Amino acid sequence: MTSAAASVAAIVQAAGPHVPVLLARVEERLAAIAASHGPVLAEHAGATIAAGGKRLRPLLVLLAAGTQPPDPRGLLAGAAAVELVHSATLVHDDVLDAAALRRGLPTVWAQGGRALAVATGDLLFSRAFAELSADGTLASVRALSRASSALAEGELLQRQDAWDVTVAVERYLYRCELKTARLFEASCELGALAGGAEREHVAALGAFGRRIGLAFQLLDDVLDVSSSAQDTGKDRGTDLLDGTVTLPLILARERDPSLATLDLREVSTPGQATALCERIEATGALADAKARALAIVTEAKEGLLALRLRDGQRIALDLVADSVVDRHA
Ligand code: IPE
Ligand code: IPE
Ligand code: MG
Ligand code: MG
Repeated sequence: MTSAAASVAAIVQAAGPHVPVLLARVEERLAAIAASHGPVLAEHAGATIAAGGKRLRPLLVLLAAGTQPPDPRGLLAGAAAVELVHSATLVHDDVLDAAALRRGLPTVWAQGGRALAVATGDLLFSRAFAELSADGTLASVRALSRASSALAEGELLQRQDAWDVTVAVERYLYRCELKTARLFEASCELGALAGGAEREHVAALGAFGRRIGLAFQLLDDVLDVSSSAQDTGKDRGTDLLDGTVTLPLILARERDPSLATLDLREVSTPGQATALCERIEATGALADAKARALAIVTEAKEGLLALRLRDGQRIALDLVADSVVDRHA
């Protein structure tokens, strides 16, 4: 068994057998949604969803709810909606980042160009809100809408800061919070809301999601420098080629004076990007960035201690938090 499969098995064991049953229902729902729109969009939206992905955000929705509510419709809608927003942003993100590979396959942008990718992403976005308007609550629509707006802001901030190797760590962290952590926060909020939790409990689970979402992006940025497409399903060094300055490069520049004069625009081929990845790795910056992610995960888990959770739910959430920093994809 791979370590990812082992951790999913442990999460399910702690959380209860309703989790894989509901996840399978989410999967069916996602496939049906993608198939329901004209041949071209159905093909590309369907392929994006069928290509897999870790389904981390729907899992968080289900785990944040605690037990299965008597009527799981709101919960299923929330779980499908967060994955749809996530998939939509990936399709759009690959246009913005000029990324050729996603989930081990050519991106919609690489296959069909900008217009097709924009339309496919728009479709996935709108269907997320259709899910919630059918089976969710106004509070759930608000939570997802807040996260989607933050995402757009984060992606824009990333473009504005492109090629600037002097970007401050705080600004980088704020970008990560907007583009990634807020959707993790909303996933936990949606689950807690569907489980009928009180406001403070919803907010506290949201804070947990936000922290692990931030750690998740930090690790994603480490993996962009350290790992091959075979591991991540994405090309190594995509961020560097695209001018996206992340924590590994920020820290490496502090450690290696020869990187101080780096002009990222001169890194324009995959070979040059790989060479820069190796220079960054040699400074020890990846270990430091990972340590930062680990510290945020610890904070997230500590935050849960103040909440009254079932043991199984706490264990499952802790395992998800650990999996965010202990992964290769
Ligand atoms: C990728 O998210 C985008 C980031 C926020 C870094 P995931 O790594 O969760 O993507 P999939 O769904 O597993 O493909
Ligand atoms: C996360 O950032 C993107 C979104 C929130 C959509 P990245 O640009 O690092 O994500 P990947 O690496 O392309 O999956
Ligand atoms: Mg990207
Ligand atoms: Mg990335």
